[in-house]
Amino acid sequence: MKAVVCEEYGPLKSLAYKDVADPVAQGNAVVIRAKAIGVNYPDGLLVQGLYQMKPPTPFVPGMEVAGIVDSVGPDVTGLAPGDRVAALMQMGSYSELVSSPAAAVFPLPEKMDFADACALLCAYGTSHHALKQRANLQPGETVAVLGAAGSTGIGAIQIAKAMGARVIAVASTAEKQEVARDSGADECIGYDNLKDDLKKLTNGKGVDVLFDPVGGDAFDSACRAMARGGRLLVIGFASGRIPQLPVNLTLVKEFSVVGVFWGAFTAREPGQYASNMKELIGWYMDGRVKPHIEGCYPLSEAPAVLERVLGRGATGKLVLVPEGE
Ligand SMILES: NC(=O)c1ccc[n+]([C@@H]2O[C@H](COP(=O)([O-])OP(=O)(O)OC[C@H]3O[C@@H](n4cnc5c(N)ncnc54)[C@H](OP(=O)(O)O)[C@@H]3O)[C@@H](O)[C@H]2O)c1
Repeated sequence: MKAVVCEEYGPLKSLAYKDVADPVAQGNAVVIRAKAIGVNYPDGLLVQGLYQMKPPTPFVPGMEVAGIVDSVGPDVTGLAPGDRVAALMQMGSYSELVSSPAAAVFPLPEKMDFADACALLCAYGTSHHALKQRANLQPGETVAVLGAAGSTGIGAIQIAKAMGARVIAVASTAEKQEVARDSGADECIGYDNLKDDLKKLTNGKGVDVLFDPVGGDAFDSACRAMARGGRLLVIGFASGRIPQLPVNLTLVKEFSVVGVFWGAFTAREPGQYASNMKELIGWYMDGRVKPHIEGCYPLSEAPAVLERVLGRGATGKLVLVPEGE
């Protein structure tokens, strides 16, 4: 089968698209024929050696797959060839056939699109966990979402709306602001006068929750527009700069800075993770959330697709599809 392989850490263009051995379903493993493979920002960091995890090379990157069960190991119960499923893994999904422990595989409703299923994993999963467990978001509160046309950003807009909040979306271009508006944001603004605009839109009060996957200058401005009792969610640093927080701001406004690490959450709290996914799939089925899939690209084009995501060019979710699927 074909797979995308990181043979050694380096630029994205050094990823190899090559033949590797087919996986065999042993023990409690399930082999899935990929129909959609989710692309995530951290995949691009991982293969360049810029992520917190540094697996030995060679390895196949990718943490999301949705497709059809091809074969199951002898210890697997409750899953059979032909089932529509999705799976979350630390890496290994950028390939035609993907092996996953059965415990990480969940069945998909008949009507759920494979690309949408990938988006509901890391992107929506992170935003949901952040707003629900970490921020304890309440109906009527105001959430500002930075990087709002990105994959976690769109998830955050739709989930905050599903939870009854008001959403101010922040994105760099008119086109991205339009995508955020179409995703349900109540107001859309740029970064230029971020602190003043957030204050103005909240009548001087500031935002109750800040969802920040960007960091850098955007964080420096937005952390000065927090409401008293607010929660500042640290999601990521797509700007490339991990900001420093003057902690006197948290004293004056009595706001909290709250870290979010969805991967650790799924591993440490499997019961809560399963119940979050159930809620998300329910919201998807009744139309309250609907991922924005920017495009589906051939698996062989993974390096260019990752360049687009890491180069600030993408909106929503990008998906890879094996040849012939
Ligand atoms: N904590 C967790 O558990 C967790 C989970 C998933 C992802 N993350 C992290 O969250 C961050 C965003 O992930 P994502 O999936 O939302 O990514 P994404 O879809 O690529 O969106 C990121 C957004 O960041 C903004 N941005 C600002 N400066 C940028 C730059 N120099 N390069 C690229 N983007 C820039 C862009 O919006 P504008 O152009 O509008 O600014 C872009 O839409 C990443 O750092 C990722 O590693 C963390």
